Amino acid sequence: MIRYRQEVELLRAYVPGKPIDDVKKEYNLKKVIKLASNENPYGCSEKAKKAVIKSLENPSLYPDGNCTELRNCISNKMSISPDQLIFGAGSDEIISLISQTYIDKHDEAITCTPSFPQYKATVTAMGGNMIELPLVNHAYDLKGILSKITSKTKIIFISNPNNPTGTIIPEKELLEFIKQVPNNILIVIDEAYYEYVSDKDYLQSLPLLKKYDNLMILRTFSKMYGLASMRIGYGIANSNIIELINRVRGPFNVTTQAQMAAIASINDEEFVKMAFENNNKVKEYTYTKCEELGLSYIKTHCNFIMIDFRKPSMDLFIELQKKGFILRPGFYFGMDTYQRVTLGTINQMKEFFQVIEELLAY
Ligand SMILES: Cc1ncc(COP(=O)(O)O)c(C=O)c1O
Repeated sequence: MIRYRQEVELLRAYVPGKPIDDVKKEYNLKKVIKLASNENPYGCSEKAKKAVIKSLENPSLYPDGNCTELRNCISNKMSISPDQLIFGAGSDEIISLISQTYIDKHDEAITCTPSFPQYKATVTAMGGNMIELPLVNHAYDLKGILSKITSKTKIIFISNPNNPTGTIIPEKELLEFIKQVPNNILIVIDEAYYEYVSDKDYLQSLPLLKKYDNLMILRTFSKMYGLASMRIGYGIANSNIIELINRVRGPFNVTTQAQMAAIASINDEEFVKMAFENNNKVKEYTYTKCEELGLSYIKTHCNFIMIDFRKPSMDLFIELQKKGFILRPGFYFGMDTYQRVTLGTINQMKEFFQVIEELLAY
């Protein structure tokens, strides 16, 4: 056997939900609804689809490794300099690149748990230690994080809103926190669900980049823009940080199709408005149904919701799969009576709650 790196021993491959076709086959079902991965149930912009088809005219050419057109488009929209941006195959890749750039063996990073698992996986892969604090009332414990800062701390990862709980950090609290973190520690604010948030108490982090050069913001095209299969996300930070992370990046990490789809999506404000409004309606419907059924839930700022079904999550997950619904069981997050439910279309959610009512009646 070829000797592999010690850190690999500590890693476990990500266990994704089963693909729709596998579940159809396994349970002999005609229709399966996936509410597992916080994908956009309204698809993506038609303009993005057209842009992808057009971009297939020249598949033999490497993509633009600099993502120039997309870079300019986002820098104009956000009034930031083009060299403050880095693009990746999903924000997943940016998270990896950050850890590869900053984490040495035995360095520390801090986050809360349950949160997005890639923070820990990428830090561990580099030989670092992830210090994890439990969420408090399902939300990030910023005081706890401050208390864990040591001379070894390199990165603090914050998911805002948090996946899987859907909570946000109040603006004042997060601002105060950023002020207190020493500036030799990188604060990564992962805003994968940014476009879904409408709460006035949500911190607009972008203007803070002018003041704090140890801040990095992550966004993605996988959620609101419905481009999860294209794999494209981006990071925004001080240009010195971006320059360093860019050294670690593969030369052609974002496909032409993804770049073209992203540009078309960003310019299709109508699609975003439609998805945002529908998500809010479905959220209200879901709250009402949960209350009718006496199920507690965590109020969400995202396109998913944690619902406490008061049943071992793996058992209910399997029962639901048999009925044609794929969810993300709370078991994976240490919240074993919960399921994380992606907010589907209103019709999908009506069907879902019908099945839930049947299953809970037993
Ligand atoms: C909080 C958070 N960050 C990052 C990601 C990664 O998204 P992507 O790699 O598709 O951009 C996800 C995906 O579910 C997420 O929930």
